[in-house]
Amino acid sequence: MENSFTVAIVGGTGNLGGALALRLGAPGVKIIIGSRDAEKAKKAVETLKPSLRAGEIEGTTNQAAVKGADFVVIAVPYEGHAQMVTDLRGQLTGKIVIDTVVPLNKGKPFVPPAGSALQEAQQILAGEAPVVGALHTISAVDLGDVDAPLGDALVCGDNAEAKQKVMEIIQRIGARAFDGGPAGNAYVIEGLTGVIIYLNRKYKSKHSSIRITGIGD
Ligand SMILES: NC(=O)c1ccc[n+]([C@@H]2O[C@H](COP(=O)([O-])OP(=O)(O)OC[C@H]3O[C@@H](n4cnc5c(N)ncnc54)[C@H](OP(=O)(O)O)[C@@H]3O)[C@@H](O)[C@H]2O)c1
Repeated sequence: MENSFTVAIVGGTGNLGGALALRLGAPGVKIIIGSRDAEKAKKAVETLKPSLRAGEIEGTTNQAAVKGADFVVIAVPYEGHAQMVTDLRGQLTGKIVIDTVVPLNKGKPFVPPAGSALQEAQQILAGEAPVVGALHTISAVDLGDVDAPLGDALVCGDNAEAKQKVMEIIQRIGARAFDGGPAGNAYVIEGLTGVIIYLNRKYKSKHSSIRITGIGD
């Protein structure tokens, strides 16, 4: 994959988005933080800048952010997912969508009508851009501490080439990435976040994650 590419983070003012921006910035990736409110995005960028090791960062509306991006990370709560993907439809041709969203209700996972958040995005986009599910099991706390070790990422989706590119990005930010299978596996991978939330509560952690053993050990 080329060295120079741009990642827009839709909902980039949130916990995951900000932490991911710091990780992506470390190897020099250009980041555009998206928000429903351009001023909020700009403020988030000013907050992130002192901790950004390298890379360029800017903040704007979600709609403007995706325009200049090669990869579009969806990092909004599930409640806003379908509407956000619908709002972005028509602007995603030639880009790869990375869907991090986990269907949660009060911290508990559920399977949405489409089968998973990823499949919901796929249905809405109807082939306009490949959708790859990723980062569900990576803790935002660990992501935001750019030297901290990261758990493993299970990446899923129906487009092998897009999935490979997303796995390369994840490796670049310091995590091991595994091909977790087709979009049909997404509900399992998304649901793991519900288990991780439970583990965090039960064991009083803020950043539990998962590790795959038996492959490449
Ligand atoms: N946090 C983690 O460790 C983690 C790990 C894996 C996956 N995830 C998934 O990543 C996604 C983002 O998580 P997060 O913790 O970053 O969430 P968050 O902080 O609650 O929200 C992220 C951003 O989404 C925007 N937003 C909030 N409600 C929205 C709505 N109804 N419609 C559109 N945009 C809305 C807000 O940005 P603006 O107000 O600026 O628009 C907010 O700053 C979630 O789906 C979560 O399940 C999180």
